[in-house]
Amino acid sequence: MNERLRERLESVLAERERSGTRRGLRVIDPQLGLLNLASNDYLGLAGNAKLKKAGRDAIDRYGCSSSASPLISGFGPAHKELLESVKAWHGFEHGIVWNSGYAANQAILRQLPRKEDVVLADRLIHNSMITGILSSGARLARYRHCDLDHLETLLRSHCKEDRLVFVATESVFSMDGDYPDLARMAELKKQYRFFWILDEAHAMGWYGDKGSGLAEFFGVAKQVDVLVGTLGKALGSTGAYTLFHDNNLSDYLVNLSGEFIYSTYLPPVCAAIASAAVLQVEKSHSLREQGRRLSTEMRDRMRELGWDVCSGDSPIISVSLGDADMAVKMAAELEARGILVGAIRPPTVPEGTSRLRISLKANLSEESVEKLMRALGAVSCE
Ligand SMILES: Cc1ncc(COP(=O)(O)O)c(C=O)c1O
Repeated sequence: MNERLRERLESVLAERERSGTRRGLRVIDPQLGLLNLASNDYLGLAGNAKLKKAGRDAIDRYGCSSSASPLISGFGPAHKELLESVKAWHGFEHGIVWNSGYAANQAILRQLPRKEDVVLADRLIHNSMITGILSSGARLARYRHCDLDHLETLLRSHCKEDRLVFVATESVFSMDGDYPDLARMAELKKQYRFFWILDEAHAMGWYGDKGSGLAEFFGVAKQVDVLVGTLGKALGSTGAYTLFHDNNLSDYLVNLSGEFIYSTYLPPVCAAIASAAVLQVEKSHSLREQGRRLSTEMRDRMRELGWDVCSGDSPIISVSLGDADMAVKMAAELEARGILVGAIRPPTVPEGTSRLRISLKANLSEESVEKLMRALGAVSCE
């Protein structure tokens, strides 16, 4: 390799090493029997028998790959079926299925805003949205995390007659597990007429009578302009979709998004598994309730053990530690006790806010909960 390039790479990696934020890939073998509280399989559907059968049937019918990009020949009946099912589930009329949530967010935030526009984004939104906004060239202004008073202040100063203003937020935040008051956001939208992009990746399956997320729970789906859903979390598959009330959005993105146009499309098997998952999720009322109850109870118990955990009922429990090395150390100690949790460090989260990220499964057994509590008790006492 070119010497200058090698030096550059080594110096960046060395800096990551010094700050305790250097990552490395490792194999996590499910057969090792670790209690996995690091994955986003919130309803435990990734191993569900009905989903597995739907996947096997789809492979028998459509093969292993879509073998082409969607505008050539990759968009097939399994994708169409998924699209119809998620549109009905969330109450939207139009949509696009994407290869990943990352690609969907990038495409939307790169293609819709332009240089002369403003995007107001929660300070902690996902990297996929930030990189999209930055490459759109639009002006980015961030409001304090979930602080809608601050959002309103920014709206007041940016919403002018001739200016297009976008607002981007997650519903449940991926690394914090909290969420903004979407009812108030919908009110703000009525007043300021911004274009609202809502990423429901971590709320789907967990909230709402039909389990479609927080837009459903708050009754604001009609006000959301673009709803982003991912298939790789509660739906036990992989891929994503975006939903719209206006077909122009869908038409425009299908025509302009490189992520959609120039990439081999999602394998039909992933779409078929996700369609089967939506059917399961819709009827999982009591499982959802159980999950939310579990989340609240576990947070209370963790606080009693002395951990810094905020209240809430989402599937993501963020345990504040501050220091990156401490997060790695704590995660290693839990792993030594048979429990896998995420050690989340910068640049994924802001400097000084490293944490453990515990992702729940609604059907976690009592035995698993006790195992986690015992381990957290032992680790915190050391
Ligand atoms: C809020 C949010 N949006 C989008 C994504 C990306 O989704 P995908 O994993 O399908 O690329 C993630 C992934 O973790 C996420 O947390």
